[in-house]
Amino acid sequence: MTTPDIQLFDQRTPDERDRPFLPGMGRAWLLPLYDTVTRLAGVRAVYERTAALAGVAPGESVVDVGCGTGNLTFAVLAATPQARVTGLDPDGDALRRAAHKAHRRRVGLTLVQGYADRIPADDAALDHVISSLALHHADDDGRAGFARDALRALRPGGTVTVADFDSGPTQGATTAAPPAHTHRHGPGHVLRNLLRIVQPRRSRAPVVAHEQGDGLVALLTGAGFTDAREVAHLDHRFGRIAVVRATRPMDTMDSRNGDAVRGHASADREGEETPGHDS
Ligand SMILES: C[S@@+](CC[C@H](N)C(=O)[O-])C[C@H]1O[C@@H](n2cnc3c(N)ncnc32)[C@H](O)[C@@H]1O
Repeated sequence: MTTPDIQLFDQRTPDERDRPFLPGMGRAWLLPLYDTVTRLAGVRAVYERTAALAGVAPGESVVDVGCGTGNLTFAVLAATPQARVTGLDPDGDALRRAAHKAHRRRVGLTLVQGYADRIPADDAALDHVISSLALHHADDDGRAGFARDALRALRPGGTVTVADFDSGPTQGATTAAPPAHTHRHGPGHVLRNLLRIVQPRRSRAPVVAHEQGDGLVALLTGAGFTDAREVAHLDHRFGRIAVVRATRPMDTMDSRNGDAVRGHASADREGEETPGHDS
C-alpha cells in the first residue's frame, strides 16, 4: 500500500508569527473538541453541500482557506479523490490534526500555516478557492484581503466558494462595501455554543435553500468578482450559513492603473516566499 503524500509548510513571515488569530473553538485548548462539536451539531451537511457546489473536477487545484482540521478539505477529497487540495490555516495544531486525519484516510494533501489574505499559490494558478466557517474568524481587513487574494490566485474562470455565517439579503442593500459580520466571538461565545450542542437536535434535518446573502456577496464583489451570488443557505442553530460562489472574470483588470490583477499582485509580493501548489 502506498503512503499518502502529506506535506506541512509554514509560510508565515516573522511578523506573521506574532499575528493573533481566533482558533476554531475560540480557545486553543478547546481544539480537541472541534470535530466532535461540529459532528454533533450537524455541520457535516455544510461541508458536503459546499464541496458539491464548488464543483471540483479531477486533477483541479484547490486551496481551502481557514481549513482548520480539514473538514471541508476531506469533503472535497471524498467527492473528488483526484483533486489537488491545499489547506491553509494559521493554527499549527489544527493543521497537525488535519495531517493525522489525512494519514488515517490515506489521502494526500498539502497543509500550509498562514493567513487568509496570503493564499499559497502563484498568480492565476488555482482552479478553486474554498472556505467554510472561517472568514468570520478574520477581521474586516483580513476578509477583504482574502477576497483580493482569491481573485489574484484564481485562474480566469476559476471559482471561489465560501460557506459562512451571513445575515442574508437586506432590502435595498448595496454591494459597495461588506457590512460588518454579526457572528462575533465575544466572551461566553464558546460556552454558549457548547451548551447549544448538548441540547436535543432539531427533529428536521438542516435545509439548504436558494437565496441571496449580501455580506459575502459584497465582500467578493468589492474585490472585483462580477458574478458573486448566494447559491444556497442553511438555517443552523448557530446562525444562518450562506454558501456564496463567484468566478474570476476572464479579463480582470485593476481599476486603479489598468494592469491585470495578476501583474499587480506579483509586484506587491516581490521577495516573499510562497509555497507553490505543486510542492
Ligand atoms: C470555525 S473554524 C473552521 C475550520 C474549518 N474550515 C471547518 O469548517 O471545520 C475557523 C478556522 O479559521 C481559522 N482562522 C482564524 N483566523 C484566520 C485567518 N486570519 N486566516 C485564515 N484562517 C483563520 C482558525 O484557525 C480556524 O481553524
